[in-house]
Amino acid sequence: MTSPSAIDAASPLPAPHAVVALLPVYSQAPRSDVPLRFRASSNESAFPPPPSVIAAAQFAIARANRYPAINGTELIENLSLETGLAPSALAVADGALSLLQHVLTAFVTDGQSVVFPWRSYEAYPICVQLAGALARPIPLTPSHEHDLPAMSAAVDSATAAIILCNPNNPTGTAFGRTELVEFLEGVPGNVLVVYDEAYRDFVDQIEIPTFSATDLVAEYPNLVVLRTFSKVYSLAGLRVGYLVGSETVTSAVRRVIPPFPLTGAAIAAATAALADHGFRERMVAVVQSERARVAGALTDLGIEFVPSQGNFLWLPLGEASEALGQRLRAHGIAVRVFPGEGVRITVGEAGLAEALVGALAEG
Ligand SMILES: Cc1ncc(COP(=O)(O)O)c(C=O)c1O
Repeated sequence: MTSPSAIDAASPLPAPHAVVALLPVYSQAPRSDVPLRFRASSNESAFPPPPSVIAAAQFAIARANRYPAINGTELIENLSLETGLAPSALAVADGALSLLQHVLTAFVTDGQSVVFPWRSYEAYPICVQLAGALARPIPLTPSHEHDLPAMSAAVDSATAAIILCNPNNPTGTAFGRTELVEFLEGVPGNVLVVYDEAYRDFVDQIEIPTFSATDLVAEYPNLVVLRTFSKVYSLAGLRVGYLVGSETVTSAVRRVIPPFPLTGAAIAAATAALADHGFRERMVAVVQSERARVAGALTDLGIEFVPSQGNFLWLPLGEASEALGQRLRAHGIAVRVFPGEGVRITVGEAGLAEALVGALAEG
């Protein structure tokens, strides 16, 4: 038998899976010594959760010696009451992003491919490659929207899943129910459609009549909808997400989700947040009005932007993006820069429109 020291001497260092070195790195706002005045870089809510939610989380923290329910059962029951969906159609975990990873783990095998819009949420290519799948990014249209016909056409016998992001992060463009149904009609039933609606609450219903993709799950059992508490419910710091899918999809994903995916504080906070309809409505109203104010400021400044349905605005500035990001950071405003492509500015915080004018108007 080989002694442990002989193994040590002969072995190279532990090698990560080959895909790890190829994964794109999630971007960050540029660093600066200038004190931060506006954190407009991560599509968070600018507002802390309401007192009822904080109190519920604190109550749960006082019982943190115990594990919470193994599958987040209480939250699933509350979501069921709130949405009218059967508990068997729901699964919860620590954020929509985790759920996406679990969905891909459950449904995608090595060598299959996943079609997704690009540019879109930067975690998509990371999750897809981690699942061992081939990434099939489909460019947005010149007007920064999902190219649904091209995405449909990209589906082939190797396609395991398609991701849709509506409204799209970072461009803020959105499509309606008719386009979604038309798309679903064209997708083979064995291809999973993962529909990420992290920003759906901020859609202006005059522009895109509100619809719930979750209503389509009964008709399209290959559709799975991802939702999050990180945006309109102001709970990004606790990470809670849920998915709605057919029983086949949901039961498979539940088997993949690790036990106790949510902390007791997260479950309690999300449950209390669901009950506070007034807070949600106020958040939607604030984001929509601040979005209009920032859009107005950009228009006055003569800076190109894409009309948005999310809590952010996309400035497709190409090579000028980094300079704009640096200039804003020098004025204490952190935004997300995608070098060579554009700048994404999260909206919601009062005074941001004026601060942008102050930073950019002086030539
Ligand atoms: C499109 C999209 N989906 C999901 C997420 C992450 O949601 P969660 O915090 O619930 O993981 C984000 C966060 O920015 C996002 O932009």
